[in-house]
Amino acid sequence: MNNQSIINEIRSKIDIVDLISEYIPLVQKGKNYFGVCPFHNDTNPSMSVSREKQIYKCFSCGASGNIFTFVSEYENISFKEALHFLAEKVGYKLDNIKIQSKPNINEKYYEMYDLTAKFYQNNINTTAGKTAKEYLKKRNIDDDIIKKFSIGFSLDKKNSLIELLTKKGYSNKELVDMGLALDDHDVYINRIMFPLCDISGRIVGFSGRIYGDSKLNKYVNTKETPIFKKGQCLYNYHIAKESARKKGYVIVMEGFMDVIRASTIGIDNVVALMGTALTNEQLMLIKKLSPNIILCFDGDNAGEHATLSVGTQLQNIGINPKVISLGNNDDPDTYILKYGSDRFFSLVESAINFSDYKIDNLKNGVNFQSDIELSNYVDKVIKEVSSIDDEIRREIILKKLAIEVNIGYNTLEKRLNKYISDSKVIEPVKRTENKHLTRYEKAVNALLYNMMINPDAVEICQKKRVCFLTAKHRYLANEILFYYEKYGNVNIADIYTYLSDKEELLALLNEIIKTEDYDCSVKAIEDYIKVIEDYNMRQEIIRLNDLIKKEVDPIEKSKIAEKIRLIKIGENNNG
Ligand code: CTP
Ligand code: MN
Repeated sequence: MNNQSIINEIRSKIDIVDLISEYIPLVQKGKNYFGVCPFHNDTNPSMSVSREKQIYKCFSCGASGNIFTFVSEYENISFKEALHFLAEKVGYKLDNIKIQSKPNINEKYYEMYDLTAKFYQNNINTTAGKTAKEYLKKRNIDDDIIKKFSIGFSLDKKNSLIELLTKKGYSNKELVDMGLALDDHDVYINRIMFPLCDISGRIVGFSGRIYGDSKLNKYVNTKETPIFKKGQCLYNYHIAKESARKKGYVIVMEGFMDVIRASTIGIDNVVALMGTALTNEQLMLIKKLSPNIILCFDGDNAGEHATLSVGTQLQNIGINPKVISLGNNDDPDTYILKYGSDRFFSLVESAINFSDYKIDNLKNGVNFQSDIELSNYVDKVIKEVSSIDDEIRREIILKKLAIEVNIGYNTLEKRLNKYISDSKVIEPVKRTENKHLTRYEKAVNALLYNMMINPDAVEICQKKRVCFLTAKHRYLANEILFYYEKYGNVNIADIYTYLSDKEELLALLNEIIKTEDYDCSVKAIEDYIKVIEDYNMRQEIIRLNDLIKKEVDPIEKSKIAEKIRLIKIGENNNG
């Protein structure tokens, strides 16, 4: 069996509906299944999954594909990695499978960071790293944790890393570009080094912490590089991924010391924001980890602020997180050290809903003697209550509020109902507007679609020698024909695999899949072909007419005119 056949076999052993259900909840409607698309920011179920065709597509962002593309996109891994991952799932070893994948142009830099991390890790176990290690010991970070998080140490020397990496063949410019050197000296000197990983666990940068009583910046992070974008990074994401899926929730903290501490009490389903406002990309990443999110930020004003803003960002994408308040200016790190794991776990158990947290918070700073402030407060609370789905909880909160502010329950309820009916104005599902296609363009897409799902369509096209005038359509048609000749069948899910290293064709495939409900009857196929042939003929006549205009030799001119006449007769005979 060749590679494609093995891969097709793997594909046929994993049902796409089952697979995608492991990532996002799907609901059956008619023949297809629907869920919230994980590939763009959305709360509507715009992703449809077809068990029959074994493909998915999103009406809103236009993503489409088979099981391999789904896993590759979702996990942000290469197609090849997704293949290996799914092969293992059904007990295949793909050791010697050759799938073409483009070499990663940044491979060299990943290797550079790996080397650097190993260097730092080694340093921390030498005498030069003794004080740094003692500092970590004092903070209750033992050798096991140091190993687990690959913590290291940058020497107190001007250019030890430059020396190492230039010996390994990297240029000074590369070191500067990748944030490891500034001119002739290392960026990280005499710091405890924490490698930062991208979502698939590759080291893409570092954070270096001072120790002892240095007056320098507490942390220095690698600058933005082609492979490190702070706003796309969450500390510990690659480890939290597995664990969050198993435990069914994820905890979000502020700092990576918090994450490291949490891991010492067996909490691996945790990520840290690393001291920046949450970007949209990070928001989507957190949402991917689990729909059940617990915010556990520092117990100070800044932490409270972060809880409110991150919580609101999550609410805006349809997630109601829970909140743990530590208070006392503790961060999770100090809290766990002070009170131990049992108390922390009971905090996790008793985390409150973000909406309750927010309502509690609205009281802060309100002057209840002022009528205006009081009514503003009441209004804000009611607005917040209107976003709660649970009727009973709504009533409980509203009753408490009525007593608290001494306003009749009915008055409050009236306002609540107004907000609820306002929010019920359902936004229509935004579909990516298909630019208006001509009859010809529609026929081309429809015919190619049919060729991918129906061997008869391929046979008919072969027999009629259908010709596509645009290069990319011709290219796709050829690939389908080739596939058909080789495997004796066509199957759209497998064609995704077959085209996996041809970006242009995958984009075209997406484009074609976007339009729904092509007519797939034999009659329709023949109609599409007719539209295409007519169009081709007209194009040919236009071309020949142009030639006539340019031609000076009268004999040649009449030859072309005769050609045009014959085409026109052919047209009449056919039509
Ligand atoms: N941070 C940073 N630069 C700083 C301070 C903080 O990049 N000068 C980021 C770090 O990623 C840090 C996070 O913001 O993890 C939270 O800051 P903080 O709570 O001060 O750090 P901790 O993780 O608690 O570290 P430590 O306990 O060692 O102070
Ligand atoms: Mn902290």
